[in-house]
Amino acid sequence: MPINDDVKLGKNVTIFHANLVNLYGCEIGDETKIGAFVEIQKDVIIGERCKVSSHSFLCEGVVLENEVFIGHGVMFTNDVYPRATNEDGSLKTGDDWCVVKTLVKKCASIGSNATILPGVTIGEKAIVGSGAVVTHNVPDYAIVVGVPAKIIGDVRDRQNLQMSTSIL
Ligand SMILES: CC(C)(COP(=O)(O)OP(=O)(O)OC[C@H]1O[C@@H](n2cnc3c(N)ncnc32)[C@H](O)[C@@H]1OP(=O)(O)O)[C@@H](O)C(=O)NCCC(=O)NCCS
Repeated sequence: MPINDDVKLGKNVTIFHANLVNLYGCEIGDETKIGAFVEIQKDVIIGERCKVSSHSFLCEGVVLENEVFIGHGVMFTNDVYPRATNEDGSLKTGDDWCVVKTLVKKCASIGSNATILPGVTIGEKAIVGSGAVVTHNVPDYAIVVGVPAKIIGDVRDRQNLQMSTSIL
């Protein structure tokens, strides 16, 4: 089922192409919009008035505060050393690993095709450039780009960014 019965949807949530998403066990706040081909796993919490663009993957352990923008094809991760199997060759189950949590704070934006490594916090109003690989916490208001992502500026110094984030 594209949207499982256990998904908690707030008021006026928009899910584009509800038959082309995979949502289960998550919580989505009021007025948030979710694009096509998005997967949102169990225990993900998404705040109010967020936008999650098409093709993004939000794994267990991700929390988005209110008004967060997620671009297209953004990949979150929650396991630093992933393995398919245990030492004895048996397939790993949910009991054989620990979820590492990730927090995206209020009004932050993540550009398309960015990858967010497990356990980071992305600060309030921060912007992650498209294609970045975020390996460390991103301070509030920072602009980060690249692989690994490095700070290149502060949104408060960029009048054009202040405008475009309000449009997004
Ligand atoms: C990071 C971003 C916000 C621009 O920030 P900015 O402070 O205005 O940056 P500038 O355009 O002045 O570029 C500054 C430097 O960073 C580089 N840069 C900008 N964006 C970059 C990115 N995504 N990855 C790598 N380098 C980047 C520029 O090439 C420039 O380098 P240079 O000085 O060597 O020429 C923007 O480039 C970006 O990636 N936005 C996200 C777009 C997106 O994915 N939107 C989502 C849905 S449409």
